Amino acid sequence: MLGAWGAAVRTRAQEAGPARGAALPAGTRFLESSPQRPGDPLLGYEYLVHGDYVSSGVPLEIYRQAAGPAADDLGRSGAASGVSYRFNVVQSAEGVPVVAPNCLTCHAERLQGRLVVGLGNNSDDHTARTSVPVMAAAMATSLKYGPDSPEAKSYAPILRSHQAIGPLITTHVRGVNPADKIFAALAAHRNAADLSWRAVSQFDVPVATVPTDVPAWWLLKKKNALYYNGLGRGDFARLSSASGMLTMKDSGEADRMDVRFPDVMAWIRTLEAPAYPHPIPPEQTTRGRILFEKKCASCHGTYGAQETYPNLLVSLDTIGTDPLLSQSYNQNPQYHTWYNESWYGQGPHAGRLEPNDGYVAPPLDGVWATAPYLHNGSVPTLEDLLNSPQRPTFWKRNFQNDDYDEAMGGWRYETVTEGGDSRIYDTTRPGYGNGGHEFGDLFTAEERKAVIAYLQSL
Ligand code: HEC
Ligand code: HEC
Repeated sequence: MLGAWGAAVRTRAQEAGPARGAALPAGTRFLESSPQRPGDPLLGYEYLVHGDYVSSGVPLEIYRQAAGPAADDLGRSGAASGVSYRFNVVQSAEGVPVVAPNCLTCHAERLQGRLVVGLGNNSDDHTARTSVPVMAAAMATSLKYGPDSPEAKSYAPILRSHQAIGPLITTHVRGVNPADKIFAALAAHRNAADLSWRAVSQFDVPVATVPTDVPAWWLLKKKNALYYNGLGRGDFARLSSASGMLTMKDSGEADRMDVRFPDVMAWIRTLEAPAYPHPIPPEQTTRGRILFEKKCASCHGTYGAQETYPNLLVSLDTIGTDPLLSQSYNQNPQYHTWYNESWYGQGPHAGRLEPNDGYVAPPLDGVWATAPYLHNGSVPTLEDLLNSPQRPTFWKRNFQNDDYDEAMGGWRYETVTEGGDSRIYDTTRPGYGNGGHEFGDLFTAEERKAVIAYLQSL
């Protein structure tokens, strides 16, 4: 089983590349694959929703009093029964059962009435400082059990991280995610060699929090490099285990996580995109496929029986989308320099962070479900993505995730005249720009409709 998975992974990665001798589209560069460790998907899912990769949190008793039973508990039994899918129930170092945030806080989302694990969260609000609930939980724990109790000690690591980085990671609009900044800010408080905590930050993190739209996990199996700018190279399991920096004591804990994360990656690779739930006229998709293969497939690959994916990085000049995410790594080498010298960058399964100038052209499987579009979630629909002059400068939606517009291919939204309110996506802010990717502009309205129908069928 384990061996079979390893073999499958390598074959897929080798296949995914430009055809031998084929010319690459101008302004693009092929991203080579790196060897990945095999893993067991079932063990990976178990670890994902029960594991202690975050090992500190609110005492289970306090959580149950404050939150009541959640509808979406992932059907878990035992201590996690009735606990929101966003949290795992784990034993802290002090032996206290605590409720700790898990990967699905950001990597699961509701879509038309159901929770889709692997779909990026596109509705959380990172604009307000989250201090109020965090401080309330700290106070409740300390009052109930005493400030020196095992319960208070079990909450201390996550509280410490929150106090150190909370003020640095707020976004300007709702729905976008500050994960890149979270990792940089945590790394500034970790000693590179043994990952132990340091009270004083050892390097400055950039002032701006660059917003990102959380990518769908089902695309991972085709990719040779992680993250929008292709930054993540080497061992994907090692790279993804960095969430442990939130609460771990030191690299002893990271060592224990490192042997479990290949299983998590194996489970993520089993995920498939959700099928489009509405009817699509077949004559539209056929016409759309022909146009797509002419204008789009050289960067995004082909779909169906003859699946290909070229794994291309597209330069900023060529793609023209908001440059800040890509540029911020090149202009601020502190984090990736720390990472590559740290525990994470060592040994045969090292992860590496290598900044690039540009963005990866992503696979488009299940793209209907992943609105809003582009790396910063600045474009609400496929129709707007393929017609750049029409993209709204200021737009808002209801965040209910049941408001899908079939014709436009994305979120139903309202155009407004100015920003200011965090529910309004303001594309005039640095990092939030909606320009570039003009490849659909020359389509006629009919052609665009056909391409959207084809995209919805993927
Ligand atoms: C705070 C939100 C958050 C949490 C928690 C989180 N992630 Fe992510 N994750 C993101 C964002 C945002 C990105 C995209 C960042 C980028 O590309 O710049 C991402 C990217 C990834 C990618 C790369 C996807 C790709 O296609 O490039 C993987 C794999 C991943 N996360 C796995 C995990 C795992 C496993 C966990 C739990 C251990 C986790 N993440 C926890 C927000 C989060
Ligand atoms: C030169 C390479 C290239 C060509 C040609 C190209 N794209 Fe893209 N596409 C990209 C890149 C790079 C991104 C990511 C840009 C970003 O996020 O800033 C992207 C993003 C997208 C997205 C958004 C994905 C998401 O989840 O946010 C869609 C949809 C898309 N392209 C569709 C198309 C279609 C349809 C065509 C043909 C009309 C096309 N692309 C042509 C490179 C290309």
